Amino acid sequence: MIALHPTIVISGATGAVGSATAAALARRGARVVLMARPSERLDTLVERLGGAENRVSQVPIDLASMRSVRSAAREINGAGGHIDALLNVAATFVTRYQKTSDGFEHMLATNYFGPFLLTNLLRDRLLGGGRVVTVAAPSTTRVDMQRLFSKEHFDAMHSFGATKALDLMFTFELARRAKRWDVRANAFHPGLVRSELMSEASRPIRMVARLVSRSPGRAGQDLADLAISPAHAGTTGWFFKGTQRIEPAKTVTDEAAQAALWRRTAELVEMEIGGF
Ligand SMILES: NC(=O)c1ccc[n+]([C@@H]2O[C@H](COP(=O)([O-])OP(=O)(O)OC[C@H]3O[C@@H](n4cnc5c(N)ncnc54)[C@H](OP(=O)(O)O)[C@@H]3O)[C@@H](O)[C@H]2O)c1
Repeated sequence: MIALHPTIVISGATGAVGSATAAALARRGARVVLMARPSERLDTLVERLGGAENRVSQVPIDLASMRSVRSAAREINGAGGHIDALLNVAATFVTRYQKTSDGFEHMLATNYFGPFLLTNLLRDRLLGGGRVVTVAAPSTTRVDMQRLFSKEHFDAMHSFGATKALDLMFTFELARRAKRWDVRANAFHPGLVRSELMSEASRPIRMVARLVSRSPGRAGQDLADLAISPAHAGTTGWFFKGTQRIEPAKTVTDEAAQAALWRRTAELVEMEIGGF
């Protein structure tokens, strides 16, 4: 059964897809927890969506820092209550190799390790019907963890594509693991949406993206549906474009590879006992 005011936690809430989704959910009466790095833009968004009076709050997080992820998870867990859906929307694209305080490449940390750890740390708040929707893209990049850690072999487009492939592999393994806790996991492709995500990409890429992208309203509605619609209450292990199921590339569907990746990631982020 869907609560009257379902609680939805959204990372990347200040971005194009995240803010459209948050607005759609707030309009439908959800209790929305907005996550992004602390900023005026985050404060303004909370206000714009009606703040505490409209059940909208914020929890700051830097997904590139596992310490910050743990601290944000502690804050959310401390508040208690059931989380009806966790929407992993945040992502970043950078053109230069940058190492985080944990020693990870920046996109790998923000787009994959951070969401992986956050999801696992919120397990006990999601159990009993919770949904995890991770925003990805139909990536065909073959994941090679060693290459993703190598500064010498860094290629921004390759690394970004790999993080989206990792998000898909994570989702499919999570869907299997989370059944024990009665939690669902799905991935979502918003389609091409006008945003600042590729602002560091080359000019031709930005120009093409601008031409073929649309405003994020539709994606926000669709993601809000996946989060709270009764129609998707039992759906797990699917990859959606909008609200339609699509087939992921063969490069991400190997179950043994997904399971091995999960174990390796748990080691790398030094995940505490209590994850999925
Ligand atoms: N746009 C598209 O055409 C498209 C296509 C396919 C898939 N997607 C996926 O859709 C999702 C949303 O993309 P978008 O276009 O809405 O991007 P966007 O407008 O650039 O928003 C990115 C969001 O991620 C947050 N973020 C970035 N770095 C962060 C960090 N270190 N810690 C915490 N939050 C961080 C940003 O928040 P702050 O900077 O305020 O912290 C912002 O809220 C992404 O997963 C993307 O891969 C987008």
